Amino acid sequence: MKRSKEQAMPDQVRVCLVGAGRAGKVHAHSLVSHIPTGRLAAIVDPVSEALASTGDEFGIEARFESLEAALDWDQFDAVVITTPTFTHESLAVLAAQSGKHLLLEKPMALTLAECDRILAAVERGGVLLQLGFMRRFDPEFVAAFERIQAGEIGQPMIVKSLTHGPGLPPPWARDLRTSNGMLAEVNSHDWDCIRWLMSSNPQRVYAEVANFKGEARGVDTPDFYDNVLVNIRFESGGLGSISGVCPCEYGYDARVEIVGERGIMQIGEMQGQAVIVCTDREQGLVTPIYRTWPERFAWGYIREMEHFIQCIQTGAPPKVGGQDGRWAVAGVLAATKSFLEERPVALGEVLKGEEKPR
Ligand SMILES: NC(=O)c1ccc[n+]([C@@H]2O[C@H](COP(=O)([O-])OP(=O)(O)OC[C@H]3O[C@@H](n4cnc5c(N)ncnc54)[C@H](O)[C@@H]3O)[C@@H](O)[C@H]2O)c1
Repeated sequence: MKRSKEQAMPDQVRVCLVGAGRAGKVHAHSLVSHIPTGRLAAIVDPVSEALASTGDEFGIEARFESLEAALDWDQFDAVVITTPTFTHESLAVLAAQSGKHLLLEKPMALTLAECDRILAAVERGGVLLQLGFMRRFDPEFVAAFERIQAGEIGQPMIVKSLTHGPGLPPPWARDLRTSNGMLAEVNSHDWDCIRWLMSSNPQRVYAEVANFKGEARGVDTPDFYDNVLVNIRFESGGLGSISGVCPCEYGYDARVEIVGERGIMQIGEMQGQAVIVCTDREQGLVTPIYRTWPERFAWGYIREMEHFIQCIQTGAPPKVGGQDGRWAVAGVLAATKSFLEERPVALGEVLKGEEKPR
């Protein structure tokens, strides 16, 4: 059933989680433990073990093997899509045309044409679309953005953003054909953040990749890489870089440095605890660091879900939407073209023939 924007929402927004894997569990936790105005009403996953374990963990009885089956049941207002990237377009389009609001995990999709079909379905369905860029809700990132906007470091000139993640990604997430590789799977957050913090779109990119660990771990996926460095020029004239390492042996690391005309700002730290231990000479300084992304961005995930539920209840547009998702995909595609063709690539090249994101 198509739902118009004006239609009143119940006090509690009922959410169907589509994809009961790692990210799905993080969002399920936010809804069940932190957000009284939202209710996890149903779970969808074609893999029976995932459906059973996540359903049992969060006490959800309505379990479906497909989004179509959940839509036949129809006892929910919104979907949270946490499935592999190559499924995003079909699931998002189906949910939007059925009148369900969407929180869609990054990366928005594999191609800009897929992003555009999602945007068109969202427009036709009269529903909200929020992208899963939780750093926009992380207290440290939000404070940094506000202080840049207030002019504390002057006009931003250079931004350097890194994300290093532990663990070899699952096969679909390291294959360019099903995920666009690490630049999308790990660094989508950097693509979104640098554009947000610099208040400017990327204009030209140059990427180099390296594969240090794949062979030893039995990875024979074509064009697999586990290290990436991208240099970026922005439309504002500013410069930037994105660094990615995955698998990273020392933990989960996400930090940004912004150099402005009047100063410098750093977001994030390596320590997972405030206690620093210094022991014998051999060990030196030992500081515990974050091990996982759900730990590092715990409040970001909760605040992003709160925002999604609030937007549905008030009809306000989400702070991070489809055009932001589309720009992150454009950056990934330009940088992938850059390393494959061993040359700098202007964003205009990947945007050519497709409508330029606003
Ligand atoms: N925002 C973040 O920090 C963050 C972190 C991790 C993953 N993600 C994103 O979340 C998405 C999922 O990643 P993950 O690590 O949770 O993957 P995962 O492999 O752990 O889980 C994906 C789940 O989706 C299920 N699935 C596959 N096709 C489906 C379909 N058609 N309908 C319903 N369920 C289906 C799978 O069976 C699996 O249980 C990806 O887009 C990824 O980039 C985001």
